[in-house]
Amino acid sequence: MRSKLVAGNWKSNGDLAANEALLGHIRAAAADLQGATCAVCVPYPYLFQARQVLADSTVAWGGQDVSQFGAGAYTGAVTAVMLREFGCRYVLVGHSERRSIYGETNDVVAAKFGAALQAGLTPILCVGETLQERETGAMEQVIAAQLDAVIETKGVAALGSAVVAYEPVWAIGTGKTATPQQAQAAHAFIRARIATHDAALASNLVILYGGSVKAANAGELFAMSDIDGGLIGGAALLAEEFMAICRAAERKQQAPVQV
Ligand code: 13P
Repeated sequence: MRSKLVAGNWKSNGDLAANEALLGHIRAAAADLQGATCAVCVPYPYLFQARQVLADSTVAWGGQDVSQFGAGAYTGAVTAVMLREFGCRYVLVGHSERRSIYGETNDVVAAKFGAALQAGLTPILCVGETLQERETGAMEQVIAAQLDAVIETKGVAALGSAVVAYEPVWAIGTGKTATPQQAQAAHAFIRARIATHDAALASNLVILYGGSVKAANAGELFAMSDIDGGLIGGAALLAEEFMAICRAAERKQQAPVQV
């Protein structure tokens, strides 16, 4: 059975005092979490703090972006090796906010994915369509191109050391969650697309759903057969809410629902 993962994406939020309380709560509450991994992707300056609070706990941590380059003259960029040095297990690559606000192309995302893997990080490759792309019937084409950029340059085997997150752009921060059926359809498409290259790898691949996940809707989303957990934005800043989402993934582990 695939493992379950719930990762928080704090985006550009947090401060030392608030983080201390949030990380401390997550550390304590996650100690008895069975069968689901909980992770937080924090802003770069707080990686040191995350490592301090979460070391020797069951909670993993990671970055939200990574340079596609190694060390050198790349002002402002943080390398994958630096993230590793601060104990990161995960890093988000290709989040839709990076793609839309910072203009990251599929090629840049693929390069970042490769840099993360090379440093021993587990990239969480974010894919997903805009509302316009969904409404014009381009959803599958868009997601396929996002996946193919990685498969063509890094090889499908690279996905065996990664996680994919399906995040429909129209559901991010809007309070408008994809229905469990919409999310399941997209996840099944992603899995099937990868299965055309390597069926065993595809069936073991952890695919997260992200986009307005809350404690109130996590259970029905995670009950879908191809949804293996969540990538959580706003709700990851609220300790009780985030842990309730983690427990929803844990329940799936204990009682999987086949659809
Ligand atoms: P929200 O959960 O705030 O919609 O954000 C989702 C997201 O972008 C996680 O990466």
